[in-house]
Amino acid sequence: MIAKPQSLLAIEPLDARQILDILTLAARMDPSRPKPTLSSRRIALLFYENSTRTRTSFEIAAKALGASCVVIHATTASIEKGESLKDTGKTLQSIVDAIVMRHPNSGAPLFLSRLIDIPIINAGDGMHAHPSQALLDAFTILQHRKSLEGLKIVTIGDIFHSRVARSDAHLFRKLGARVVLCGPDVLLPETALALAPGVEIVRDMEEAIREADVVMMLRVQQERLVGMQINVDEYVRRYQLTASRLKLAKKDALVMHPGPMIRGMEMTDEVADCPQSVVLEQVLNGVKVRMAILETLLGEKR
Ligand code: NCD
Repeated sequence: MIAKPQSLLAIEPLDARQILDILTLAARMDPSRPKPTLSSRRIALLFYENSTRTRTSFEIAAKALGASCVVIHATTASIEKGESLKDTGKTLQSIVDAIVMRHPNSGAPLFLSRLIDIPIINAGDGMHAHPSQALLDAFTILQHRKSLEGLKIVTIGDIFHSRVARSDAHLFRKLGARVVLCGPDVLLPETALALAPGVEIVRDMEEAIREADVVMMLRVQQERLVGMQINVDEYVRRYQLTASRLKLAKKDALVMHPGPMIRGMEMTDEVADCPQSVVLEQVLNGVKVRMAILETLLGEKR
């Protein structure tokens, strides 16, 4: 029996070795020096949700490896005419070698991976997972630290709805970091265990951030705050990353954000542009890490 080609649906099934292998390969990737290792491959980027960074970086990554790449926006394809995800997947399967997929429903990539035989790469599904983002976040930290072992990584914001927080938490724990989550009660999972094993919840931002090695800020949607009866000014007062709060973290703590970042909400302009901020490095690293993911799943030596 021929084994089904691997997909990347979440971080949970990966072990530390597999994660580090992808990150080591990413360090060798250079999007400005294309290497046509995937020149015979065709990749579909199937996006049922908006995206700037993730879509563009997967597209650049695929092209830098010589693959042909087609972007399908849910609103411009037959999908709008009511074609089911299953039929879309089956159709694409006959003409491409892999699907990179973003979908508003948690579990949609897993659902599709059970119906078709080509690798599916989850580019973000609902509140569930965003594995390529977690890999690029770890890669970015590792450019500034030797290892994640023992680091205190604090994530602040709308944890409950965040697929980034969930995938980051699993990955950072697998690589031995301490993961601390902070945000208003209604934006936290009911128990830390609901997110990933060994994760801690600290409600007070000053306490959470103290001696942190990495401060990861998450996007907070104002409409969501209003819907949950959280006063926006109060949120900003309690959870915004300001220069004085950042001083509570380690002197060389990294400031991260997966984007899109709302300045003046999650962090002040001063913090967003400070030397400790690696937000733009995350974007560049996104291309390298996605090249490594595509190479791992579709390259010759797989
Ligand atoms: C994140 C996403 O879409 O999950 N953004 C991204 O991929 N860089 C985070 C977010 O939208 O808040």
